Amino acid sequence: MRLEGKVAIVTGAASGIGKATAALFRAEGAQVIAADRTEGEGVVAADAGSEEDVKRLVATAVATHGGLDIVFANAGISGGLASLFEQSPDDWEAILRVNLIGPFLAIKHAAPHMKERGGGSIICTASVAGIRAGAGGPAYSASKAGVINLVKVAATQLAGANIRVNAICPGLIETGMTRPLYDNARAAGREDLIGHLNPLKRGGVPDEIARAALYLASDESSYVNGHALVVDGGLSASHPFYRQDYGRTSF
Ligand SMILES: NC(=O)c1ccc[n+]([C@@H]2O[C@H](COP(=O)([O-])OP(=O)(O)OC[C@H]3O[C@@H](n4cnc5c(N)ncnc54)[C@H](O)[C@@H]3O)[C@@H](O)[C@H]2O)c1
Repeated sequence: MRLEGKVAIVTGAASGIGKATAALFRAEGAQVIAADRTEGEGVVAADAGSEEDVKRLVATAVATHGGLDIVFANAGISGGLASLFEQSPDDWEAILRVNLIGPFLAIKHAAPHMKERGGGSIICTASVAGIRAGAGGPAYSASKAGVINLVKVAATQLAGANIRVNAICPGLIETGMTRPLYDNARAAGREDLIGHLNPLKRGGVPDEIARAALYLASDESSYVNGHALVVDGGLSASHPFYRQDYGRTSF
């Protein structure tokens, strides 16, 4: 019960990483307001990119549970893999609205309540795509790079409030977002290629990100602030360089 007595908001909670994290937070004793674009079982409707909706979510947490301790600003869209030259400003605005403005709004509206309560933990989902090129479309990657910087800026601007703001950078995780990639690989009989670029040579599962979110949400990470935690099986640890004997070394 690492989150006993805590109140949490999780966005993008109807699927994948958000769904797994909402379940884990609940199992660890938190009262969780799970939100997604549309209402579902145990999920309230809120657009993570709408200031009105985010304000309403925070107000609900405070009115229903008496305060707010944890926000997991996780909702995101991939926007596809079209190149820089194929994307329009509208495409960029739509992607940045959810992936970057969403976390900004979560921080902006949650932090004042957390400050009143004496502290809190805000976690935003970035991505390895935000570290360097090649793991997502152009606007998606830029939005996630923005999230990595946003948590540093927010942690700094919240100095003295005892509110920690961190990001998680997942690698390849099997969720609704990556379903086409998994489906295509399976249909082609090449499931072995999924995640083969990282040293663990497999894709991750949502629970492996939920556990990182739990660590950052709980007091176990009490001195971790303004950090982007990579959870990617080692994908981003190396530069693209191929040696024939990789994976065949005997120890
Ligand atoms: N799956 C991966 O490999 C991977 C890797 C790196 C980062 N991420 C990030 O993880 C986060 C969660 O994605 P996932 O992989 O679980 O995908 P997912 O598609 O399974 O879940 C994302 C959820 O966010 C919701 N959502 C989208 N726009 C929203 C909005 N405006 N308001 C509220 N909810 C909205 C969707 O309805 C969906 O339920 C995203 O930020 C994504 O960019 C995923």
